Amino acid sequence: MVDLQSQYQKIKDTVDASIQEVLNSSAYINGPYVHEFQADLEKYLGVKHVIPCANGTDALQIAMMGLGLEPGDEVITADFTFAATVEVIGLLKLTPVLVDVEPDTFNIDIDALKKAITPKTKAIVPVHLFGQCANMEAVLEVANEHNLFVIEDNAQAIGADYTFADGTKKKAGTMGNVGTTSFFPSKNLGCYGDGGAIFTNDDELAHILRGMVNHGMYKRYYHDVVGVNSRLDSIQAAVLKAKLPLLDSYCDARRKAAEYYSNAFADNPNIITPIISDFTTHVFHQYTLRIINGKRDELHQHLLDKGIPNAIYYPVPLHAQKAYQDNRYNETDFTVTNQLIDEVISLPMHTELDEEQLAFITKTINDFI
Ligand SMILES: Cc1ncc(COP(=O)(O)O)c(C=O)c1O
Repeated sequence: MVDLQSQYQKIKDTVDASIQEVLNSSAYINGPYVHEFQADLEKYLGVKHVIPCANGTDALQIAMMGLGLEPGDEVITADFTFAATVEVIGLLKLTPVLVDVEPDTFNIDIDALKKAITPKTKAIVPVHLFGQCANMEAVLEVANEHNLFVIEDNAQAIGADYTFADGTKKKAGTMGNVGTTSFFPSKNLGCYGDGGAIFTNDDELAHILRGMVNHGMYKRYYHDVVGVNSRLDSIQAAVLKAKLPLLDSYCDARRKAAEYYSNAFADNPNIITPIISDFTTHVFHQYTLRIINGKRDELHQHLLDKGIPNAIYYPVPLHAQKAYQDNRYNETDFTVTNQLIDEVISLPMHTELDEEQLAFITKTINDFI
């Protein structure tokens, strides 16, 4: 699905030199690269505070801790996302409330969101799935009306731009009270291990979060709040600092591959290609098709037989996962996710795809479907 080795070969000299510098300095935790990367990312995102941490799951958990969410508080999120989003809600003994998504963008459905609000609702977690932003203007409007926090799960859309109705532009992850991301190796901005970050423009919240990622310490060995050990290590920060200036070109390369795919499938009546909302750019963390003639599983196997990687993101909606079942849910509340799990298939998507590969993949699919 990704070709991290070819990407690494193109930046090997810079990355190797940076890693060597960390080894020479022995500043493995909280070394200069962590601070430099943090400042670079703040500038890139146009956000006041970036708080690096150990991974995108921790980033979500710490964001919810920092906002002071308490057991029993209801947190609304999308039914169609990676489990990390709902996992941390459960871990903190908050109550996850899963809602359906839009069939074309796979992002949270605003009507379903509105219907799910109760007096116990405290936060909304829109997930910018597969690389494009959820309808943040509408999410923020609902949040303002009901006085709710907005935590953007931006693990999959770093680099995407959002345009509000008044023309204001913001980077994905910087629109809510807090945003989170993952630097998992295959992400658009990936390191060579685990990594993550939290973003906010709120000075007070940023201060709380900075202590929380480091055992709740604001002064060494003085623990003011319950925290966790979740730090981005210096070697990962060195890799990320080298890769951040390339993020926009990485997103462009993904867009180019997506355009090739979409053009190749344009006349195929059995395939729905990704639809991009007007208010967001798409950075194609995943390129996900809907196969609407019932042959998705056969296609999945056929591509594997031909040596073409592909994946079903996601095969089971969260409301149907054993860990997150809840008898308050009605299957009729999830008509879209229940349909998507039978139709979606994600194709290889990364910065190194060339035309020969794309031609082979698209021809194989069009011949079969
Ligand atoms: C939507 C979403 N949220 C959260 C995460 C968690 O990130 P991490 O794997 O860095 O913990 C991921 C990672 O795949 C993700 O895709």
